[in-house]
Amino acid sequence: MFDFKIAAADKTTLYRDLASALEGLVTGEPDPIANMANASALIYETLPDVNWVGFYRNIGGELVLGPFQGRPACIRMTFDQGVCGAAAKTRQVQRVEDVHSFAGHIACDSASNSEIVVPLIRDGEVIGVLDIDSPKRARFTEEDEAGIVKLAEIMMKVL
Ligand code: SME
Repeated sequence: MFDFKIAAADKTTLYRDLASALEGLVTGEPDPIANMANASALIYETLPDVNWVGFYRNIGGELVLGPFQGRPACIRMTFDQGVCGAAAKTRQVQRVEDVHSFAGHIACDSASNSEIVVPLIRDGEVIGVLDIDSPKRARFTEEDEAGIVKLAEIMMKVL
């Protein structure tokens, strides 16, 4: 078991410590499922006010549920469905302050009110997305986005 106990007073330090813990966890491990599983657990345990953290993988042009922490979730989405689909299709981070006002949002957990989805791109291909949900409205700020994008960049290399 790994016991990272990351508790930082400010977000810059929190994301710096989280990135360094993630890098340590996944570096050298070639199995993508193991890496996504540990990444979900670490992020879920470390970030306050999140109720779902996980991955969808691009399998044959569909987003298929991968390792995650949280309630059982929607298994498959096309690139035209949900916030995850929008991230995969546009290749842009989707930072949604209020999921109830996002047309096409797929509610996997009724407790979710805000969400951030980061596309994972390698060699020009969308290989999946990292999805994080929160019960708090506007939980994810620009600072969170910058920190979570760095986490996604670490993951892109080990999937
Ligand atoms: N809300 C997502 C679906 C996945 S769950 O949040 C885990 C979406 O609209 O893409």
